[in-house]
Amino acid sequence: MEEFRKMFELVRPYWRRVALAGGASIIVSALSGSLAWLVKPIMDDIFVKKDSFLLMMIPFLVFFIFFVKGIFLMLNGYLIGSVNQKMVMNLRNRLFSHILNLPVGYFGKSSSGELISKVVNDIALLNGLVSLTVKDLLIESCTAIALICVALWRRPDITIISIVALPGAFYAIGKLGKRIRQISRRSQEKISHITEFLNESFTGIKILKAFSRQQDENERFEKITRDYYRENMRATRVGETGTLLMETVGGIGIAFVMWYGGRLVITHAMTVGDFFSFLAAIFLMYSPIRRLAKVNINLQQARAPFERISQLLAEPQEIAGAKTLGHEINSIEFKDVSFTYSESKHKALDSLNLTVQKGEIIAIVGRSGGGKTTLVNLLPRFYQPQEGKILINSTDITGVTFKSLRSSFGIVSQEVILFNDTVFANIAYGKPGADREEVVRAARAAYAHDFIMELPQGYDTIIGERGTRLSGGQRQRLSIARAVLTNPPVLILDEATSSLDTASEVMLQKALENLMSNRTTFVIAHRLSTIKKASRIIVLDKGRITETGTHQELLGHGGIYQKLYELQFSSQES
Ligand SMILES: Nc1ncnc2c1ncn2[C@@H]1O[C@H](COP(=O)(O)OP(=O)(O)OP(=O)(O)O)[C@@H](O)[C@H]1O
Ligand SMILES: [Mg+2]
Repeated sequence: MEEFRKMFELVRPYWRRVALAGGASIIVSALSGSLAWLVKPIMDDIFVKKDSFLLMMIPFLVFFIFFVKGIFLMLNGYLIGSVNQKMVMNLRNRLFSHILNLPVGYFGKSSSGELISKVVNDIALLNGLVSLTVKDLLIESCTAIALICVALWRRPDITIISIVALPGAFYAIGKLGKRIRQISRRSQEKISHITEFLNESFTGIKILKAFSRQQDENERFEKITRDYYRENMRATRVGETGTLLMETVGGIGIAFVMWYGGRLVITHAMTVGDFFSFLAAIFLMYSPIRRLAKVNINLQQARAPFERISQLLAEPQEIAGAKTLGHEINSIEFKDVSFTYSESKHKALDSLNLTVQKGEIIAIVGRSGGGKTTLVNLLPRFYQPQEGKILINSTDITGVTFKSLRSSFGIVSQEVILFNDTVFANIAYGKPGADREEVVRAARAAYAHDFIMELPQGYDTIIGERGTRLSGGQRQRLSIARAVLTNPPVLILDEATSSLDTASEVMLQKALENLMSNRTTFVIAHRLSTIKKASRIIVLDKGRITETGTHQELLGHGGIYQKLYELQFSSQES
């Protein structure tokens, strides 16, 4: 019941339209009732008394009733349709905006395929069902009531007897509704597996081909679609059982009415007109009642996607503070920061203390899994430490707005994120409204201008999904240009480990040096040249800072740094 209330909440903002549609429904129902009502004069006055004036009038009247009914049906359909489309559009928008404001950690728990499926498939399912339900509830219940009134007027005793069987049928169908809900939930999970699978296959198409997995992936996909098919067939079977049930109850009711009413006509207890008018009402009632019985099934079917969407909407969003951080960043301080990823057993960062002053270049080195990426990810609050705090200019970062905090950092990560748009739009991503001149200047600083000019449409070239039409080094330089353009006071670099060819490497180095000048920089360093330039090196191991100092200072220590140096960096010395 609680959920039905929530579902109707969705429709509430459009109550005016729904009320208008309700008005139209009442008129449609009254007209349907009047058709059944008219059967009596047709029978008694035209067929029995042979009234020729009435014979002239009736066709016009019938046409008029149908025509007016058509107009109001159309109006009702239009109003409900618009409520429906609006509701779906707004719910989709709300869901998308909600998802965008969920913490980064959430995206590790929920696959993007699943999220896409919720925004596309689950909402699509609500689209049909809510409108059907509202429309059915409005029109069909009004019509059923109008017709019951006509039937009652004509012959109260049989009407009551023939309606008595209905609650039993409704109850049985209600039972089916429960089954439908379970099936519908599973079915929505299955379709989200399909989107998930498609998403992964297309993103990983190169790997898929490289390992010649087409055959296996095909088979896996066929299994998923077969599961989905089975679930839907189950729903179809249960739904059609409901149809059979209604037909049976309807058949029994109408057979009884025919027999009993026929007897009343033969014994002259009832006129032929009364009987047929009554019969018409019962026949016309049949379809609305069947649809009403199905309303529950439809509602149950809508419940599963609705639950999935409600759960997602109930996920807590990231919480920002109210202060704005100035553009000038003088100090960054980690104070006893500990962080554990959700569902992880060990601390990724363990009581970390670090103070960085303006203009410093901090190189972060350490074994894989030591917590380097985690450390820099805490700065823009992609994750929230469980213990300790991070202060920027002595202000706790949880107290400042995301916009001012995040615009303080330029992030050039190892894995470059580009969008399927023009080169220009990709560079200007962090600064909407940037003009041509600024963008070109940024591209020059990133050593990207020359290769951009060689592209077919220069800055207006579309670079393909995730920048697939560019080389790895080119992609990296675009992301540097993007960072240059926003001119952030603090830079976070996750240096590429993959070796580029020497020319690209040199250009990339120069681009990075341009970017680093006059900024505070955190660099996860894999190159000796960067490390040597750093004002301080910190060595992270198992989430703790084990050593800190300059290259020269650390070399003599005989600690992890020295080992790392011998293993990793000494080959780069030339
Ligand atoms: N999203 C995540 N969810 C759960 N655990 C994670 C997540 N990301 C990283 N970890 C774990 O946290 C620890 C630190 O990871 P982190 O990515 O910070 O290492 P790193 O020092 O950057 O390593 P690398 O040099 O290989 O990039 C690792 O044990 C890793 O398994
Ligand atoms: Mg890392």
